Amino acid sequence: MPEEILDILKKKQGYATAEELCRNGRLSRQVLWKKIHELRVLGYDIASVPHLGYQLLSVPDRLFPSEVGRALGTRVIGRSIRYYDHVSSTMDTALRLARDNAPDGTVVVAEGQSKGRGRFGRSWVSPKYKGIYFSIILKPRTAISQAPAVTLMAAVCVCSALENVCGLDARIKWPNDIFIDERKLGGILTELQAENERIVSIIVGIGLNVNSDKRSPAEGAAVVSEFTRAHVNRASLLRGILEQFDEYYSVFKRNESGSILEAWKRYSLTLGRRVKIDSQKGRLEGVAVDIDADGGLILRLDSGFIEKITAGDVIHCR
Ligand code: BTN
Repeated sequence: MPEEILDILKKKQGYATAEELCRNGRLSRQVLWKKIHELRVLGYDIASVPHLGYQLLSVPDRLFPSEVGRALGTRVIGRSIRYYDHVSSTMDTALRLARDNAPDGTVVVAEGQSKGRGRFGRSWVSPKYKGIYFSIILKPRTAISQAPAVTLMAAVCVCSALENVCGLDARIKWPNDIFIDERKLGGILTELQAENERIVSIIVGIGLNVNSDKRSPAEGAAVVSEFTRAHVNRASLLRGILEQFDEYYSVFKRNESGSILEAWKRYSLTLGRRVKIDSQKGRLEGVAVDIDADGGLILRLDSGFIEKITAGDVIHCR
């Protein structure tokens, strides 16, 4: 990606002359033409007028590192972004890269996935250029007992970015589904690699349905643009999530997971509600009264008994 030329064109109000581009980018006219051509092939609309030079008219709706990484104010998360037009699942690509020494905070993003997956082996429909599908490689050097906080943190970051970037009131359905108006539009999948009770890496996969597609993402699922009533800039939203993640990741590394839990509770759609859960213990019904530090849901059954649920699917009763 001819990033230098792109940066100059982005900063420039109006036309940049070929001479200016060659001088600032330290390249010959011939190389400049080649790079302008490459950018156009990627979808950048660049006007060229003899004697005036080149002007960037529009950028493509893509999650290129040059769009997401530019002006990304993070210290760890997304300092390295691996971009793919298409993969089977960003979880698998991220795991391969993690084993191959990818640094802490590496982000693996794809425009589409053919085998996107969710919890309990479900599939995650990932139409190309419509959603945000990415995995973050974390190597926090902590005990595995800390791992649940990472999943809670990811859901908080998505809700808070939807609020900051799109002005939306998103909520978390336990354990980590992202909802607006009682409809799911995003989900989180965390996969842990550990050795001797220590975390080797955690891959956090986040999928968000962003702009609508003829092919509905999944039955009953929602997309962000339904609520903004306008096309959403996916690169800005992804940048917003990564920036939140970076903040919370440093909180996590400082062992202050209590504040992650508090933030999760503020965004919760489940706490205080009557719920049904299909869990390992069968179908349970009661009021969701709290979550604990492991992300377990504390349920008060009608009998007055308190149950802790660690995994399962929640149905919110009306
Ligand atoms: C769920 O709601 O069950 C979790 C869905 C997680 C989907 C994301 S999309 C990016 C990453 N790659 C995958 O294959 N899955 C996660």
